[in-house]
Amino acid sequence: MSSADPTRRVQLIYGFVLVLCVAQTTWWIVDQARFTTEVREQAEGFLRADVQQARQLLAAGVAPEEVAPSFPELQFRPDGPQIDAAALAKAERRLRRRVVRYGWEGSFFLVVLVIGLIVLLRTLRQRARLLRMQENFVAAVSHELKSPVASIRLTAETLSLRDPPKERRDKLLLRIQEETERLETTTTNLLETRRLEEGGIKHDPQPLDLAEVVERVVDSLRPSFTACGVTIHNGLPKGLVLLGDRTEVQIVVTNLLDNAGKALAKCDGPEVHLAGAREGRYVKLTVSDNGVGFPTSESSRLFVKFYRLGDELRRTSRGVGLGLYLVRSLVEASGGKVSATSEGIGKGATFQVLWPAAQEVAA
Ligand SMILES: Nc1ncnc2c1ncn2[C@@H]1O[C@H](COP(=O)(O)OP(=O)(O)OP(=O)(O)O)[C@@H](O)[C@H]1O
Ligand SMILES: [Mg+2]
Repeated sequence: MSSADPTRRVQLIYGFVLVLCVAQTTWWIVDQARFTTEVREQAEGFLRADVQQARQLLAAGVAPEEVAPSFPELQFRPDGPQIDAAALAKAERRLRRRVVRYGWEGSFFLVVLVIGLIVLLRTLRQRARLLRMQENFVAAVSHELKSPVASIRLTAETLSLRDPPKERRDKLLLRIQEETERLETTTTNLLETRRLEEGGIKHDPQPLDLAEVVERVVDSLRPSFTACGVTIHNGLPKGLVLLGDRTEVQIVVTNLLDNAGKALAKCDGPEVHLAGAREGRYVKLTVSDNGVGFPTSESSRLFVKFYRLGDELRRTSRGVGLGLYLVRSLVEASGGKVSATSEGIGKGATFQVLWPAAQEVAA
């Protein structure tokens, strides 16, 4: 994946066009102001010539009543013909109004142009980001499907050809189980996301005891967590009844635990804490780990589809970036909320899910 912004060239071209437009509009305004000054000076020149002519006619003995109709823009006072100052000021005002109008029209034109450019650039950027994410996604999915299959095949071959001792055999079997879980999580996430986006998910909300659903998921994942030295502290009290779809809640919990497992992969004393409580009209589940954490500023972006922290070329953890997107979509579709917090890299992470409480909904 190239880190260069593919919209860079368009930005430069449009930046250049914008500078040209600003220069052109400024030129129009200056040119109009100059033209106006020229016209005014010319008009004043003509009027002065008229005054001169009228004076000559009067000096030649022509009566003022006969001269006046030929020079309507002059005032004939006892001390001689003069330029009509009021008419001159009126003409000046008219000319100035033109310059101001050009200024406003030019500025408006520029503002529209800048807004148009901003919208265009944003759209291009979004498209480029989407394209990059799709490329990442294809690479990640290929990797996520290929590597567990290869690992399962290799492990199965070792088991069948070498007939290893019990301890080694148990380890190999556990590896097969882990890789199968990994495949299952990936394919479930892919299928559920597709169904969700096609509007094909049929929510079947029912009262569920959170502790019971979580325990099932924890039981299925415990062997692989234990094998990696991760301790799961399940402090969920019984009796927290939420209104949700059983499969969806399972998917949510599985994804949060799967992420915690990945975040704890290289940590000392890895631990996951599960807690639950009633919070207003919600039932709250908290999943915290003391793993790699994430920059605090990333907390809302983690839920964006295909978003994964770090560089995809140096994949530090497996995954395609669908888990948290699915978690948020499913929880919000059932009327709940999700949030993520971390105090920074290396400081662990906490994910919080709120589902509507069953009694509350019934009421
Ligand atoms: N507990 C956690 N601690 C630290 N970072 C986390 C944690 N959970 C998620 N993240 C970060 O959020 C990113 C997105 O998580 P998400 O579950 O959506 O995708 P994924 O786990 O990478 O892939 P997938 O879930 O599709 O297999 C992860 O790549 C990881 O960087
Ligand atoms: Mg995940």
